Amino acid sequence: MTQAEYITENKERFLNELLELLRIPSISARSENNNDTQRCAEAVAQKLREAGADKVEVCATDGHPIIYGEKIVNALLPTVLVYGHYDVQPADPLELWNSPPFEPVIKDGKIYARGACDDKGQMYMHVKAFETMMQTNTLACNVKFMIEGEEEVGSVNLGKFVVANTARLKADVILISDTSMISMDTPSIDVGLRGLAYMEVEVVGPNRDLHSGVYGGAVANPATILAKMIASMHDENNHVTIPGFYDDVNILSEAERKDLNDAPFDQKEFNSDLGIKLEWGEEGYSTLERTGIRPTLEVNGMWSGYIGEGAKTVLPGKAFAKISMRLVPNQKSETIAQLFETHFKNMAPATVTVKVHAHHGGEPYLTPTDSIPYLAAAAAIEKGFGKKPIPTRGGGSIPIVALFERELGLKSMLMGFGLDSDNLHSPNEKYDIYNFYKGIETIPHFYKYFAEMNA
Ligand code: BES
Ligand code: MN
Ligand code: MN
Repeated sequence: MTQAEYITENKERFLNELLELLRIPSISARSENNNDTQRCAEAVAQKLREAGADKVEVCATDGHPIIYGEKIVNALLPTVLVYGHYDVQPADPLELWNSPPFEPVIKDGKIYARGACDDKGQMYMHVKAFETMMQTNTLACNVKFMIEGEEEVGSVNLGKFVVANTARLKADVILISDTSMISMDTPSIDVGLRGLAYMEVEVVGPNRDLHSGVYGGAVANPATILAKMIASMHDENNHVTIPGFYDDVNILSEAERKDLNDAPFDQKEFNSDLGIKLEWGEEGYSTLERTGIRPTLEVNGMWSGYIGEGAKTVLPGKAFAKISMRLVPNQKSETIAQLFETHFKNMAPATVTVKVHAHHGGEPYLTPTDSIPYLAAAAAIEKGFGKKPIPTRGGGSIPIVALFERELGLKSMLMGFGLDSDNLHSPNEKYDIYNFYKGIETIPHFYKYFAEMNA
């Protein structure tokens, strides 16, 4: 039986198995879901065993478990290490979903559920592609699986696992489907990921919430101060104002910028999809550059004072914000976190005190387009889609990828089949069933070309 025949014959079951995984609310950030997250890990392990993997293990960590499994067919063949994640982002705000996030529904050929694209749908394509290669006797490389449950919370325990398991994880390349394509008609490969520095700040004013009439006008309001401080972190050209922020940014040549901007992109469509009247960003750069090759600073959340029903006249004692910065080569997460902290403290007026805390971070990443992994992935996509893929830069982050390179000496190939419009981290996350099958069909081509190119 050919791979295509096997996939066609087992289509329905492949999809139903994915729907089962999507029903498990494996939200890594929420401890009340710890049992679900554990259950999801065990379900993935079971699916790997059924697909034909050996030595499958649910490895306990200080957080959520990591699933390991492997199939070594021939010591002379190259080894592909597949990385993915079974954890998902919280689903709230729930009221904005058209159907419950953990009760997947299929509408217009798309699966709607939290994790449908990020990353259960994409991770599971690898399990089913592996099964297909096993059942058709076409597994062209050795394979190792490492599926984690803490990607959405910073992969801290995976980092430790990697350091402790370098021998077990020995491989020739890491293959990951956790990024997006431009569209199914315009296949692309993300050759870059941005890094991340994530900060939380607190502005403290009076020692308690005050009556805003009795004290208002005579005491600095931490919410106002915080708003001013945040607003001042972009100048009139939307450059970030933190001193030294851009010092290490790798500047692309005009030719590289031209290549990047040659990728099909429709600003009008972008705006109408998001319901915005006008795009925004750093002066002198296109939208693709703003998300691909430039660092940014964004407020992820702000809170202070009374936000319940009705009106309460109060001058809040404190104000808070979560602020993240996306980084590009050669910025360093720790350096940027330090620059932020120094700047935020320096600009605080004497009327308040401020606290700054750094959350998890991660380094930016680049895959060279002249490397064997890229060439094998490009050939696989060309075979699967009938078109050469365009190299693009993804705006998101997968912080563990830089650690893989540092600790294992391995390049990661980001062969993603999602779309930016799949509502990752948003309400009504979706994944096209067509993309799911296309991925299962295309992944074995990567194994074949990667083995050939390494021979
Ligand atoms: N799969 C995404 C990353 C991604 C999405 C990269 C689309 C490129 C295109 C991943 O699950 C993710 O959401 N990462 C987080 C980082 C993490 C530390 C929370 C992110 O980018 O915010
Ligand atoms: Mn992901
Ligand atoms: Mn994600």
